[in-house]
Amino acid sequence: MTTPADTLLPAVLLRIPTVYRPQEDTRLLAAALAEASMPAGARVLDLCTGTGALALCAARLGAESVAAVDISRRACGCARLNARVHRLPVDAHRGGLEKALDLAPFDVVVSNPPYVPCGRATEGMRSRRWDAGPDGRFFMDPLCERGAELLRPGGFMLIVQSEFTGEDQTLRQLRAGGLKAAVVARSRIPFGPVLRRRASYLCDQGLCQSDCTSEELVVIRADKPSRPR
Ligand SMILES: C[S@@+](CC[C@H](N)C(=O)[O-])C[C@H]1O[C@@H](n2cnc3c(N)ncnc32)[C@H](O)[C@@H]1O
Repeated sequence: MTTPADTLLPAVLLRIPTVYRPQEDTRLLAAALAEASMPAGARVLDLCTGTGALALCAARLGAESVAAVDISRRACGCARLNARVHRLPVDAHRGGLEKALDLAPFDVVVSNPPYVPCGRATEGMRSRRWDAGPDGRFFMDPLCERGAELLRPGGFMLIVQSEFTGEDQTLRQLRAGGLKAAVVARSRIPFGPVLRRRASYLCDQGLCQSDCTSEELVVIRADKPSRPR
């Protein structure tokens, strides 16, 4: 079945092995971005871009320029190729949060970062796409703490995460950084292969019941006031 978000994301995306395949979290964030009424001519950051799916979506929604940042060389290569194929104003940059801060400020930031809790160290390139430390906040904590520095006054950020990654913690950290934060979208989806393998760990951590077979994805919006509060 085609959803409105499917029409926002390019139907054809080049993807090489180990680069994240856009999924439900990508689609939920794309839909939230479309709903958010991005200002015309916005300067946008897609942090943790993977194939560049959300960067391309932002460009299609009218962004003047989009910076697509990812730690993975392969992901940056894919994002660059996809931007060229679709002739959209997206520039790929290899790096993490520090690279994004170098490129700041932005009118709009979107991020679908790694957020899955995992009990052991991440295992190379494959798991780096989603694994985010014991509480799933390896990337989320610094992003929330420094999110305000990425934004221009009046700008906003949209982040997607799982219910297992601490929604309240994300809201608290963003607010502590001077942003106005709220949940703007939710979607419950069945566990995919990664969470099926991770279910007993989540259960041991008290994050879900032993019979749990689905997770709620959450999109959080954080706005930077036009004038300092
Ligand atoms: C869940 S995927 C999302 C990809 C894409 N935004 C999407 O929705 O289809 C997370 C991405 O974050 C990247 N990543 C992991 N750690 C990172 C870091 N420290 N800094 C920047 N990107 C990172 C991974 O390479 C991966 O492409």
